[in-house]
Amino acid sequence: TTIVFFEPDGTRREVEANPGESLMEVAVRHGVEGVDADCGGVCACATCHGHIDPAFFGRLLAMNDTEDAMLELVEDQRAANSRLLCQIQVGPELDGIVIKLPGVRR
Ligand code: FES
Repeated sequence: TTIVFFEPDGTRREVEANPGESLMEVAVRHGVEGVDADCGGVCACATCHGHIDPAFFGRLLAMNDTEDAMLELVEDQRAANSRLLCQIQVGPELDGIVIKLPGVRR
């Protein structure tokens, strides 16, 4: 499954993902800039925030209340297509998805 990330500076990174990985794990494994994943993937930090390709956004499982609340931490970067990448599992239906990384704020 091919995933395309745009790093905060606009660099395009096309990487391979394994089924069952989260999009956060894919980014970290490939050293993609803009995903810190401070909490290790338990939906408690919002440093894995990404803007999801609108063509794929509707195919994702809906976010839960915890993810929605964590996204408030990045309210100034939040968009209608915002998700936390640790909450999205890779499957074949995501092949070719494009994710823009707004960059982690400190
Ligand atoms: Fe912390 Fe996703 S890695 S919320």
